[in-house]
Amino acid sequence: MLPDTREDKGQIEAIKFALKSGINAIDTAELYGRGHAEDLVAQAIRGVDRESIHITSKVWPTHLSRSGIINAVTKSLERLQTKYLDLYLIHFPNPVANMKEAIGTMEELVDMGKIRSFGVSNFLVGDMKKALEATKKYDIEANQIEYNVLDRDPERELIPFCEENKVKIIAYTPLAKGSVAKSKELIEVAKKYEKTPVQVALNYLMKNSFPIPMSTDKGHIKEIIGSAGWKLKDADYQFLRKI
Ligand SMILES: NC(=O)c1ccc[n+]([C@@H]2O[C@H](COP(=O)([O-])OP(=O)(O)OC[C@H]3O[C@@H](n4cnc5c(N)ncnc54)[C@H](OP(=O)(O)O)[C@@H]3O)[C@@H](O)[C@H]2O)c1
Repeated sequence: MLPDTREDKGQIEAIKFALKSGINAIDTAELYGRGHAEDLVAQAIRGVDRESIHITSKVWPTHLSRSGIINAVTKSLERLQTKYLDLYLIHFPNPVANMKEAIGTMEELVDMGKIRSFGVSNFLVGDMKKALEATKKYDIEANQIEYNVLDRDPERELIPFCEENKVKIIAYTPLAKGSVAKSKELIEVAKKYEKTPVQVALNYLMKNSFPIPMSTDKGHIKEIIGSAGWKLKDADYQFLRKI
């Protein structure tokens, strides 16, 4: 099936606008648009100094054999038209895949210069233990998980476990798909700082993670940028931990 290209122009423009406005991290995956998202990223970063941006991509869990991962990263690099990824993630755990083989191949990719670091996504504590045990040479850089102020479940067990093991947390769906904008508690805190609820929601996450919000709207992108460079007071942080 051919990819849907109707939104391409707007999506490329949004990435270019974000990069010009100071955002330097791009998150993609072989899954997104069955590779088409990586094609769009390539078009958006044309002419941008590669070293000034951080690109993450992900391998799908049915591709976790050595040859599967090498084939997947080769195709991602071709689509992205870049020589290396800053971070390469196993998109989801696969209980029937060989974790030692998958992590060993990730380590090989670092040595080959195709990726600078690797990690996992959607891994719970049990999956994390297996991944950590499988490393020989390099650390697991990050676990990318669903985490936002309206769904703080990872704070109970997963985030403390990752922190203990020096694995960074990348928070996806950090705006709960935009619903944080309507939270009355976030609106209340935002007023005190002359910020917006979206900015408070992202600032909250920055205490223990790297949030990766998505937007194709220039106004929203500017708003997202305003979530950094200031800090919630501890009392407000604790208040938001109770909602
Ligand atoms: N590892 C994984 O399994 C996984 C799974 C899901 C997502 N992800 C990654 O995480 C990224 C973000 O997650 P997501 O897209 O699921 O959720 P999200 O960032 O929480 O929400 C995106 C939605 O929020 C809206 N939005 C953005 N800024 C806003 C603002 N200032 N006010 C109101 N609404 C706003 C966007 O609409 P507009 O475009 O109109 O601004 C969009 O519809 C994805 O792009 C993807 O790279 C990873």
